[in-house]
Amino acid sequence: MAKTKTHTRFVCQQCGRVSASYMGKCPQCGAFDSMLEEVVHDESTVKKSAANVRGLSGRSEPQPISKVGGEAEERVPLAIGEFARVLGGGIVPGSIVLVGGDPGIGKSTLMLQMAMEMAKTQKVLYVSGEESERQIKMRAVRLNDKKLPEQLLLVTETSLEVILNHVRASQPDLLIVDSIQTVYLSEIDSSAGSVSQVRECSSQLRELAKSSGVSVFMIGHVTKEGNIAGPRVLEHIVDTVLYLEGDRFQAYRLLRSVKNRFGATSEVGVFEMREGGLSEVTNPSEAFLAERLVNAAGSSIAVTMEGTRPILVEIQGLTSPTQFGNARRTANGVDFNRLLLITAVLTRRVGLKLAEQDVFVNVVGGIQIDEPAADLAIAAAIASSWKDLPVKADVVFIGEIGLAGELRMPSQMVARLKEAQKLGFKTAIVPKAIRVGEAYPKGIEIIEVRSLDQALDVALKKS
Ligand code: TYD
Ligand code: MG
Repeated sequence: MAKTKTHTRFVCQQCGRVSASYMGKCPQCGAFDSMLEEVVHDESTVKKSAANVRGLSGRSEPQPISKVGGEAEERVPLAIGEFARVLGGGIVPGSIVLVGGDPGIGKSTLMLQMAMEMAKTQKVLYVSGEESERQIKMRAVRLNDKKLPEQLLLVTETSLEVILNHVRASQPDLLIVDSIQTVYLSEIDSSAGSVSQVRECSSQLRELAKSSGVSVFMIGHVTKEGNIAGPRVLEHIVDTVLYLEGDRFQAYRLLRSVKNRFGATSEVGVFEMREGGLSEVTNPSEAFLAERLVNAAGSSIAVTMEGTRPILVEIQGLTSPTQFGNARRTANGVDFNRLLLITAVLTRRVGLKLAEQDVFVNVVGGIQIDEPAADLAIAAAIASSWKDLPVKADVVFIGEIGLAGELRMPSQMVARLKEAQKLGFKTAIVPKAIRVGEAYPKGIEIIEVRSLDQALDVALKKS
């Protein structure tokens, strides 16, 4: 047996940058105190790289581009429509997918639901490093108490070597690893969840997927900075990155694809967390508007794009006289700085006296809006509350606000207007088009305005 030499190195847990000595600040990503010492066995690294070269030369063969198969990837259909949509149609055999999200948001629930669905036709192995088989079974019963699928195998395991043995023995079509932060390789000395472990384990899972055609889904926890275990570390290893988002105290969940080698990114699936698991919301706009109080002051409707999908959401605004000196601004579901900008424009360009008012903005349904096309609706909700005049119930607002109080055209106007019209809205207040593009849909009255001032004049008429 060859002698193994060991040495230590320091690895940034954020970006994976390796350094020979400790550094307080990572020179690559700028994170502070993120370097962790890890022990490296020289022998195993040498062996591994040799194996990699052999593996490559054994499998690949250059061929003319015209001979390369160009058919669309075959996909295994997935009966959960909203999920399939985000994946780009179905599950691609041999692909590796990362599902990220905050703790408690519903990742394990979603994966188990998928596993139970797929197990009707395929063999599925669900590996959990977080919960016992009993706990998973109890969840499965909660999701579907009728009949548990025979082809769904459960195991609680954290050693990747053992997991790979289970895969070899049981030959599943689909492997789910819950979560990548709990599995480890014994040849790496750092603890489970560290960048080295996460990177090495996911590389091996990727090898497994590519060489055997098993589809692999792995769950990844989001760190408090909002990244999956050191951001760039995992994203280039996997084919697809999905995030499950939502407010933990609200029922709606958005499944978003941020990277997809087999489909469009920025696709969004909408779910609602219920007693029996995540249920699909095929018409999100209707769901988000369901509890709306018609003709109440301080409410307006925005049309936001989630990927390629227009979604109508209610924005609520409330102004209330400041009690203790400093006026407060509270944003829930919209960017705080965006709210500051909008209140400043309302104060300076429209003349609303908001300096001594607390301003609250809330997006109903717990979703987060991060595009400026909702500016106009936010401004309308605040102005409506301040003036105590309701916006008519069948009006939508679409437009970005500039610092001079001018309105700017957001992208995908036609798709937004079509969705509003489909849901029965009669009027849309939008920025004046400078270039004439695709024709606006019929059946919804379009009021074009140049400035925020004009928009509010139209929207908040005393009747
Ligand atoms: P879970 O899938 O365990 O979250 P994660 O794996 O992302 O940490 O989901 C946790 C929450 O979902 C938990 O608070 C309970 C809730 N839940 C339901 O509301 N209904 C259900 O049917 C299930 C299974 C969970
Ligand atoms: Mg979980």
